[in-house]
Amino acid sequence: MSNFFSSTIINKIKKTESEVFKKKNFLGSDEIKTLLEYLRNLKNKSVGESKLVDREESTKIFFDFNQSEFLQKLKIKIEDQIGEFFVNDFQPHIITTRFPLRLHVDTGKNPNDIIYKNVVVPLEIIYDLEKDFYKPPNTVIFKNKWYDRSALLTKQTSSNYDFIIKDIDNKFVDIVNIHDLKEKIKNVNKGTFSYGDKKFIINDKFKEYIDNLSKTKRYNARTDKHIVNNNDFKKSDYEKYMTHQPYEDCQSLEIDKIIDWEVGSLMTWDRSRIHCSDNFLINNVVSKTCLAMFTSKNKT
Ligand SMILES: [Fe+2]
Repeated sequence: MSNFFSSTIINKIKKTESEVFKKKNFLGSDEIKTLLEYLRNLKNKSVGESKLVDREESTKIFFDFNQSEFLQKLKIKIEDQIGEFFVNDFQPHIITTRFPLRLHVDTGKNPNDIIYKNVVVPLEIIYDLEKDFYKPPNTVIFKNKWYDRSALLTKQTSSNYDFIIKDIDNKFVDIVNIHDLKEKIKNVNKGTFSYGDKKFIINDKFKEYIDNLSKTKRYNARTDKHIVNNNDFKKSDYEKYMTHQPYEDCQSLEIDKIIDWEVGSLMTWDRSRIHCSDNFLINNVVSKTCLAMFTSKNKT
């Protein structure tokens, strides 16, 4: 199989594996308010270990459990549920997502890491209340496992320069190559700009945003090695959950659990599990925010 983790490490990882887990009402509304206010205020002041990655499609605020007493207590509270853990290579964070995450795994980049659980605690869901219906977002966990480094799983492996950005109508669109867009708008000063079938308003702010995206270093590699057979993904499940990504990317995947987001619940699954967000946009969710981290059983 993979030569990323050794068979000894894989055996150690497998010994820690368990079923997808959800505990309702893990955090109360007061705790959620405290956590969100504390971290969102840090974002403005950039105090301590907190760093910020702010994009149109998502905002991440990173933290360290040792930076406040409340966060220290929170770590103990999570350990009461899942046992002792460490966070090694990707800091704990809260993430606000405005465009759903595609198929991926969070196995990290360290072959000596005894990867343990993905931990997610939904903190806030914003609905478009002007629409006539809305439904909570879901996280889709597949039966399929992955013992290689962190990856975005897609058949589009040739380019690593695609980004989701907002168009003239404030709708999210997929740009296949951000460098190409950057080049095309180089000599456009302002006004409406057509790029294929997409339209954007060009101004200094837009140009600066595209320039910043073009300098992004991606954490995840891209691969289609998750496709291991010719089994097509169930069309009805695709329509219900997965329309934010190409149908062919779902080939050979089998759904294990669909976890619906309940604010304050604790959700965990093995880091070896392939997972993604559902396409919450079709259910009139504007954004969702959760605490997210990737835990390990050893300190590396
Ligand atoms: Fe993830």
